Amino acid sequence: MATADPPIKKVLERDASANIVVIGAGIAGLTTAYLLARAGKAVIVLDDGPIGGGMTARTTAHLTCALDDRFTELERLFGEAGSRLAAQSHAAAIDEVERIVRTEKIDCEFERTDGYLFLSPEGSLKLLNEELEAIFRAGLSDVQKLDRAPLEFFDTGACLHFPRQAQFHPLKYLTGLAQAIDRDGGQIFTRTHADDISGGEAAHVSTTGGYTIKCDAVVVATNSPVNDRVVIHTKQAPYTTYVIGARIPRGSVPGVLLWDGPFDTHAAYHYIRVAREDDHDVLVVGGEDHRSGQHNDGAQRWGKLEQWTRNRFPMVEEIEFRWSGQVMEPVDSLAFIGRNPDDDDNVFIATGDSGMGMTHGTIAGMLLTDLIMERENPWTELYDPSRKTAKALPDFVEENVNVAAQYADLVTPGEVESIDEVAKGEGAVLRRGLSKVAVYRDHDGVVHSMSAVCRHLGCIVAWNSAEKTWDCPCHGSRYDRFGEVINGPANKPLKTTEVS
Ligand SMILES: Cc1cc2nc3c(=O)[nH]c(=O)nc-3n(C[C@H](O)[C@H](O)[C@H](O)COP(=O)(O)OP(=O)(O)OC[C@H]3O[C@@H](n4cnc5c(N)ncnc54)[C@H](O)[C@@H]3O)c2cc1C
Ligand code: FES
Repeated sequence: MATADPPIKKVLERDASANIVVIGAGIAGLTTAYLLARAGKAVIVLDDGPIGGGMTARTTAHLTCALDDRFTELERLFGEAGSRLAAQSHAAAIDEVERIVRTEKIDCEFERTDGYLFLSPEGSLKLLNEELEAIFRAGLSDVQKLDRAPLEFFDTGACLHFPRQAQFHPLKYLTGLAQAIDRDGGQIFTRTHADDISGGEAAHVSTTGGYTIKCDAVVVATNSPVNDRVVIHTKQAPYTTYVIGARIPRGSVPGVLLWDGPFDTHAAYHYIRVAREDDHDVLVVGGEDHRSGQHNDGAQRWGKLEQWTRNRFPMVEEIEFRWSGQVMEPVDSLAFIGRNPDDDDNVFIATGDSGMGMTHGTIAGMLLTDLIMERENPWTELYDPSRKTAKALPDFVEENVNVAAQYADLVTPGEVESIDEVAKGEGAVLRRGLSKVAVYRDHDGVVHSMSAVCRHLGCIVAWNSAEKTWDCPCHGSRYDRFGEVINGPANKPLKTTEVS
């Protein structure tokens, strides 16, 4: 966000029609729109923020086929054939980004680089060896086990080397996609909220401004679908992840991608890469994930990331950037891309990216374009949002028991008793009779109050001091400090209410 300026587009201020309406101008939406426009479709893209203003602005932009839930797990869930397709599709997505960058001459710092997966202290060598076997069975025969990653200053111990991964500047890439969409006759409208989405013969999208776009099909690429009330949201869970950007001398860390992990999908892990600036580099380190809306300790988590980084990268100078974002973790590891379950056949979604949204978003563009153009695609079944997730039952139960437990907040006391306890620039939830009220005090001391009941399925939102947002602990809806919705599945603002 500090180093790119995606183009500013107009607000939609008239009725319109198109073959396809794409909602969401992140990587999934813009890749889909680009490929459909290339295929000759009339496309309209709507986003209620700027281009790339969602999680694509917050990504660390590793492009990799080293899937973060690991191939041993993918093989258990989808069999050897499914694991192969998963590996192929992510490798193909990196190739597709490279192809688009070359074809469209997009200046977005795309570079091929190698990736290294190493063990965190609690990891086991046995699991690393088993992972390598599963990787070979998935068809990634060029992955190799090494004694350590190529870092002189940090002995990672045994690691797996993944050649020909990549990194890029995601917002510069989206800028190039947007320019190509314009050239091919597509239209992009920003600051335009899609309010109502309907499929079927009279498919259309209505905006908050009161305008309607008639279309043949709708693609909902809003990261978490705002049109699906329940089905998908029981199959994925929102996690908040934290990142620091540390200033380091130019060239002091090789330009590789690094990931650690104990090979247990529930345990802590880190993801690391280097971004080049004019006169120095920035070491970008992420991790410290937690279930969204269930912890409000971002400052401590950034602190732990800094400590972890300084212990391993002695060249780190000051921490220039700190941010966080949300990833949607599917219970069975792979994104949900295709027809929206229990909806008309011409309504499509892309969600459940986990930490693989750059490749999953690109796969979404390729797969949804094929589905809409009625072309065969070998990945259709693997990513089908209606697929059965029976083998992921323990994760499914665990995440949904967690959601059910959040409803207890409807009857618990508030976090504070009086608005006087809410400091300037902070927020808190208060109980008032049978209701809970979300209160934010701005820097001038003015109190803004709204119902704390999430507009999706009624959980109580929680204050996030790090991002100054209200986060729902159930399915990941997020609202800005004034209650405007910024992340689905909710699609409406928190209701305003008075508080005494
Ligand atoms: C900190 C962090 C690090 C990450 N690192 C990596 C990584 O290294 N590699 C990787 O592959 N992935 C990574 N990810 C995941 C990846 O960034 C995301 O999965 C991906 O960006 C999601 O893209 P998207 O297009 O689906 O959604 P988004 O980029 O969130 O786009 C959705 C858009 O929809 C718009 N929208 C929502 N509702 C409406 C509405 N009703 N009307 C109009 N517009 C609407 C939003 O404004 C938004 O712009 C990371 C994520 C985070 C948070
Ligand atoms: S996100 Fe589902 S209840 Fe809030």
